[in-house]
Amino acid sequence: MTRVLFYLDGFPHEPWEKAIKAADPSIEFHSYPNWVHDDDRPTYALVWEAPKGLLNQYSNIKAVFSLGAGVDHLLEDTSLPSDLPVIRMGDDGLKEGMSEYILMNVLMHHRQMPQFLANQRGAKWQRIFSKAAASVRVGMMGYGALGKTATTALKPLGYDIAAWSTSPKEPEHGITQFMGQDEFKQFLERTDILVGLLPETPETIGLMSEENLAALPQGASVINAGRGSLINIDALLHALDKGHLSAATLDVVPEEPLPPNHPLWHHEKVIITPHIAAITRTETAANYLVNNIKRMEIGEPPQNMMNRNRGY
Ligand code: NDP
Ligand code: OXD
Repeated sequence: MTRVLFYLDGFPHEPWEKAIKAADPSIEFHSYPNWVHDDDRPTYALVWEAPKGLLNQYSNIKAVFSLGAGVDHLLEDTSLPSDLPVIRMGDDGLKEGMSEYILMNVLMHHRQMPQFLANQRGAKWQRIFSKAAASVRVGMMGYGALGKTATTALKPLGYDIAAWSTSPKEPEHGITQFMGQDEFKQFLERTDILVGLLPETPETIGLMSEENLAALPQGASVINAGRGSLINIDALLHALDKGHLSAATLDVVPEEPLPPNHPLWHHEKVIITPHIAAITRTETAANYLVNNIKRMEIGEPPQNMMNRNRGY
């Protein structure tokens, strides 16, 4: 019997139960804390920001599925058994949502919408002309599942796209690839619109420091939809204020929710969204979960398993 333990605070569990049952009626679904029988122990877990120590209580769990693509919320739980497979969400709904968000914001930055919105607030009629897309250099920081689908959405618009990641990839027409720390500065120096789609790991925390923000060309802009810890916010504000950077869109920030008195809220060059760039969609995610459980039950490796050594 496959029993799924579900944890998602602040949202109803019923749509998830319905979607998982629709994908596989034989699965037993239990939403924490409505776990009744001691002997009905869960065999899989599907969670987002579960209380620390919770998963360690269930020795029958064969794998834990993150309700999001990020797994940092799981790794923060030091009691999580080190040999427990952790699987990232990779449903199509998440990829589509992120592509829409990146496309929308790259266009906003390219067409200088943050500036026009600020001008509108001051009733200022100022015609500013945009460069052709082909001369706008977009830099995808992180070229994984989400970075790749967002790039596929951007490509037809004609942007000059580069991608930065840790490992070699197949060459791709129209994408300049950069790899690792050695090529990081080169990547930054050729990027007009930087798109952050990195996971949170010890290597990525604070990576967009004052020095690395300064390596971006004058007038560059930043879109971060990965994790808020990537960017040093004081350094970002400073770079915006002194005019080195022209705009920033932040879907993720170091402290979420962003405190009401934070200067980012009222900065005229900043667009804030409340961590909604891509949301796991119930139906596609339920199918993704069920297919992955099926794979594991017949001894096949699950898709999108986190690599503990890499931390993502
Ligand atoms: P993947 O694991 O598929 O891709 C991560 C990418 O980052 C890979 O290309 C990886 O390189 C690269 N990377 C990781 N560490 C480094 C490093 N130190 N230096 C250079 N490149 C690095 O993740 P996804 O694309 O699925 O998701 C990315 C992140 O987006 C998630 O971890 C999550 O934090 C965030 N997210 C945010 C959402 C939102 O709503 N704002 C929604 C969903 C996800 P390589 O290819 O070589 O392994
Ligand atoms: C995710 C997220 O990781 O929503 O999926 O941030």
